[in-house]
Amino acid sequence: MNSSKSYVFGRAKEGAFPKVHKAEGLWIEDDRGNRYLNASGGAAVTNVGHGRREIAEALHQQVLQYDYIHPTAFVSPVVEDLAAALAQRAPQGIERFYFLSGGGEAVEAAIKMARQIHLANGRPERIRLISRWKSYHGLSLGALSAMGRTAFREPFAPLLGDVVHIPPPYCLRCSYGLTYPGCQLRCALALDETIQNIGPNVVSAFIGETVSGATLGVYPPPRGYWKVIREICDRYNVILIQDEVMCGLGRTGRWFAGEHYEISPDIVVLGKGLGGGVIALSAAGLQAAHFEALQSAGGFVHGGTYSHHPVAAAVGLATITILEQENLIERAERVGKVLGDKLMQAISGFPHVAEVRGLGMFWGVELVRDKRTLNPFPRKAQMVERIWQSVFDKGVIVYKAFGLAGSDGDAIIMAPAFTITEKEIEFLVDSLAQGIKETTTAIKN
Ligand SMILES: Cc1ncc(COP(=O)(O)O)c(C=O)c1O
Repeated sequence: MNSSKSYVFGRAKEGAFPKVHKAEGLWIEDDRGNRYLNASGGAAVTNVGHGRREIAEALHQQVLQYDYIHPTAFVSPVVEDLAAALAQRAPQGIERFYFLSGGGEAVEAAIKMARQIHLANGRPERIRLISRWKSYHGLSLGALSAMGRTAFREPFAPLLGDVVHIPPPYCLRCSYGLTYPGCQLRCALALDETIQNIGPNVVSAFIGETVSGATLGVYPPPRGYWKVIREICDRYNVILIQDEVMCGLGRTGRWFAGEHYEISPDIVVLGKGLGGGVIALSAAGLQAAHFEALQSAGGFVHGGTYSHHPVAAAVGLATITILEQENLIERAERVGKVLGDKLMQAISGFPHVAEVRGLGMFWGVELVRDKRTLNPFPRKAQMVERIWQSVFDKGVIVYKAFGLAGSDGDAIIMAPAFTITEKEIEFLVDSLAQGIKETTTAIKN
């Protein structure tokens, strides 16, 4: 075999990236000794930092005690403990958790749960799903059907399910040309209108990211948005699914992002940070009453070879213990404000920065060609990729978002570990400011 050839069907252009050697705390080192500040937690995943000994030990112990146990043959106490830890912190009434591996997989499970809850309650005609444009829910065909990122949907359009999309809460480019609060949350009222248009008796569920992440470049909805959505779902008996794969488990400075909006969903979806960046772990949590309905109707028709995995659960539990013991949720809120303030001061006045927005340790910077008209850079200009590279070359890793305006529109996401120091924040903000300046100047010349 040719030892210099790669046999991996990778996600990067061959030869584009350095080889990783080590990762610790917020820092990743390549095989040449270059160090990079991981300011995005990968894809908003490593919330407690890299290389946590407590997680390694929990994983090691769990493998030795009991590893793969099929969930249809035994109860695993560690899985019970993780579910209890989540239920203790979850929105009101969310008491049961179904554990899977990827976020998209848990989204699929949530969509199926909603359908089956209606079946269990004698409403077989409830089949339609409503979601939002510019959303991200995963890449499997069901989750992709719900997703609203145009560029990811286009090649597979003929394979996608019939999901109806409504405009997202995205005040900067309001689909109705309105301004909050005078808009009276027109984007939330769109759900009512859409349910009426489709037919109130056929809608099964509405799914939305509690705080938009990967596609919208972080967008906390305006105050009141989720209350209106909750009321509409209640009015029509529509299941409300909040996707907190990216924004949950402390990212916004609360255990669940829904806490900011004081509502409880029917189903909440978790992923990413739940596995501490060490193992693939996701969950769909649901209201106790829905769980009871499903049980009385014969149970949820679902499965998964790696569902309810004890080793993944041990990692999840160790991650939650770290978040709790080190007070990291409170820290995400407090130090996240420092990150937000510094980004505002350093970057928001730039000619190509349309907006800096965020919540907790979750921030986005939207880039535009024309700040007055909000005209985006065309996708082919690869603006976010260029800025990303420039910032990477300075030793900082951020996250790319695109598709904020159709297939165009760029944003940079920052989602560092909650342990980030103020000195590291300064390095991040300085590098990002320089990267944006250099790249946007170069494109003009
Ligand atoms: C909100 C949201 N939901 C679902 C997913 C899909 O998760 P995964 O990539 O683990 O399947 C993502 C991934 O970025 C996400 O941000």
